[in-house]
Amino acid sequence: MKLDDIKTIGVMGGGLMGSAITQNIIVSGYKAVCRDLTDDILKNTRSIIVDSRFGMRIGVERGKLTKEQMEQALNNLTLTTKVEDLKDCDIIIESIGGGDPRQLENKELKLKVFAELDKLVKKDAIFTTNTSSFTIADLAQAVERKDRFIGLHWFRPANILKAVELTYTRDNTEEVIQVMEEFCKRLGKIPVRVKDVPGDTGFIGNRLFGIVMREARKMVEAGIASPQDIDTVMKEGYGWTLGIFEMSGQTRDPRQRSGQSR
Ligand SMILES: NC(=O)c1ccc[n+]([C@@H]2O[C@H](COP(=O)([O-])OP(=O)(O)OC[C@H]3O[C@@H](n4cnc5c(N)ncnc54)[C@H](O)[C@@H]3O)[C@@H](O)[C@H]2O)c1
Repeated sequence: MKLDDIKTIGVMGGGLMGSAITQNIIVSGYKAVCRDLTDDILKNTRSIIVDSRFGMRIGVERGKLTKEQMEQALNNLTLTTKVEDLKDCDIIIESIGGGDPRQLENKELKLKVFAELDKLVKKDAIFTTNTSSFTIADLAQAVERKDRFIGLHWFRPANILKAVELTYTRDNTEEVIQVMEEFCKRLGKIPVRVKDVPGDTGFIGNRLFGIVMREARKMVEAGIASPQDIDTVMKEGYGWTLGIFEMSGQTRDPRQRSGQSR
């Protein structure tokens, strides 16, 4: 598959991430077929793409795109509950949730979905997964096209943040890695190559975020500093644009909740 052969992208999952990824794709001039389980969920997908805080309508109001570009982008959009509608896609981006009971992600479910897609989608299509933590080679076990199965991890909001982690396995050819890098650039992204390793460690961002978050929580629990003070040091001392607690939405000090004071 060459870069110019890529025309239509299948997005599995129209949740928080899948919607924003789909928006990024259609605004960049590609066709997107986004599949989720019910029409109600897909209604919400469309509303995230059009009317959410980072949606296209606000983009038009802020002069980021014209009304015509928004209409053109919407012409590129297909929302469907039928997985067969993805069969002619050139790239698949899997971004499904955990199923029931609700987890953010579920390895068994991803394996099942990829096995189904592998039989259905044209043989030269490239498969990508937006998993935040699973080892890519483990997920690739579900498919025969292991050379064309690669990690593509987005950050939230996916249509705004530029970094994407392109996690390659020993089975990927240089050609596939390069075509994906070029494709990401066409979406306005900055792809970073990451070597896949065993152990479901996550890639660069989540792996480091996890360590920093653990240490930050330990400091709060030991009474060393409050979440706000830790965030202040990282922002005003290290130039971070967001503090670690702000980033994870956990700015309350547990000592204050239990009645302790600073
Ligand atoms: N939320 C984040 O910040 C974030 C960041 C990077 C990566 N991710 C990864 O992206 C994936 C999705 O996360 P999210 O936050 O969008 O979750 P979400 O719960 O908002 O959306 C997941 C969607 O997947 C759908 N789904 C479940 N099974 C499906 C199937 N068989 N076919 C099609 N759709 C199916 C669900 O109905 C739901 O709408 C997860 O694997 C997650 O780890 C999440």
